[in-house]
Amino acid sequence: MNWNEMYERGETPWEKGQPTPVLAEMHAKRPEVFQGQTFVPGCGTGHDARWLAEHGCGPVLGADIAPLAIERAKATDTQGLASYRLIDLFNLPQDVVGAFDLVWEHTCLCALDPSMRQQYVQAVRSVLKKHGMVAGVFFINPEMDPGETGPPFGISVAELESLWSAAGFELLDAWVPTAAYPGREGRERAVILRLVS
Ligand SMILES: C[S@@+](CC[C@H](N)C(=O)[O-])C[C@H]1O[C@@H](n2cnc3c(N)ncnc32)[C@H](O)[C@@H]1O
Repeated sequence: MNWNEMYERGETPWEKGQPTPVLAEMHAKRPEVFQGQTFVPGCGTGHDARWLAEHGCGPVLGADIAPLAIERAKATDTQGLASYRLIDLFNLPQDVVGAFDLVWEHTCLCALDPSMRQQYVQAVRSVLKKHGMVAGVFFINPEMDPGETGPPFGISVAELESLWSAAGFELLDAWVPTAAYPGREGRERAVILRLVS
């Protein structure tokens, strides 16, 4: 999948022009999680990264493989709240390894082919400090409508939980968010994890 071409062609149905409403819900419920150096994989045009920087996290680094997404994120963030870098999650630069207290996940895992899930979790693990946290909203319904194809690729709750626990993460909290973009109601799961081993 050529993500930059998707941005060039304007085929970006995930682009809502604002942060996910689940961020505010999670922050209200578990504000202590949202602090420290924060990494946002697949940040797109940076709405979530900017929100995190305005709500207790910092410094915040948004990472994306699409140059156009990074360009737009930088152009939109006129106050320089967060930083944005062209980074391939599966070829991480050395300076991000072990550098973050928190990873915020939203629509990156579900954008990847399901065969990449373990590599994704390993990449998240490698940017975190010891006992680092993951907070995120995951697209959980793996059932496709007839004729529907991913991305996004939903994941079952059972696979989601075993994916993280197999990589040394402890599940601290999980719930179905009440806040959602129209069309995503009931198809997402808010999750908070900590790296324990
Ligand atoms: C579905 S979009 C979501 C973007 C953003 N999180 C949002 O909600 O607006 C998935 C994003 O992941 C990025 N991406 C895909 N593969 C990646 C990789 N290997 N490393 C970094 N970013 C990647 C794409 O360029 C795209 O911006």
